[in-house]
Amino acid sequence: MKFFIDTAELAEIEDFAATGLLDGVTTNPSLIHKAGGNFFETIERICQIVPGPVSAEVTATKADSMIEEGKRLASIAPNIAVKVPLTWDGLKACRVLSQAGTMVNVTLCFSAAQALLAAKAGATFISPFVGRLDDIGQDGMALIDEIVTIYANYPGTLETDILVASIRDPIHLVEAAKLGADVATLPPAVLRKLVRHPLTDKGLDAFLADWEKTGQSILS
Ligand code: G3P
Repeated sequence: MKFFIDTAELAEIEDFAATGLLDGVTTNPSLIHKAGGNFFETIERICQIVPGPVSAEVTATKADSMIEEGKRLASIAPNIAVKVPLTWDGLKACRVLSQAGTMVNVTLCFSAAQALLAAKAGATFISPFVGRLDDIGQDGMALIDEIVTIYANYPGTLETDILVASIRDPIHLVEAAKLGADVATLPPAVLRKLVRHPLTDKGLDAFLADWEKTGQSILS
């Protein structure tokens, strides 16, 4: 499973990229606004920090303009994935951009039918938003299960990677991995939580205390 980070904060991206565990980055207009700074400079810098796919979202709503914006975004770096919304215009733009060899991430997916359409339009990634479905009392992870099943029914035809988005906690990540989703995009706060377990901390404290009592050192 690939791990992307869901942020436009450069310091966070640099921090996690240093672990060697980061496979890509997703941004959206809200995350760009939250991070501040110039959009193009931010995206260009992210593409330098992380060699994997970096999603940058169009803001036009008509297919022709989305395609123009998508071409402009794709010119920033070879690892740009142009993000388009799951509308008819977004799907049209997805088809044109993907046929031109650009990676496309179709975002704001909330149903299996939408995911099927995006795959037929040649999307590189489909982004179902699990947390926002949970927020309205629906089962976000059930949608991931449906999409995994549907795509698996058509091997060699529906080649789109399932990129689980709107992740709120480590349980979302584990459940998505159990279902075989290709990618999870994680907010920095959730990424930080992944490594933590109180028994790890407690166990390490005990090991170090006992080692201290031996009076020995590994390097001298
Ligand atoms: O990047 C899209 C998605 O991950 C947004 O998540 O938390 O705003 O629902 P959220």
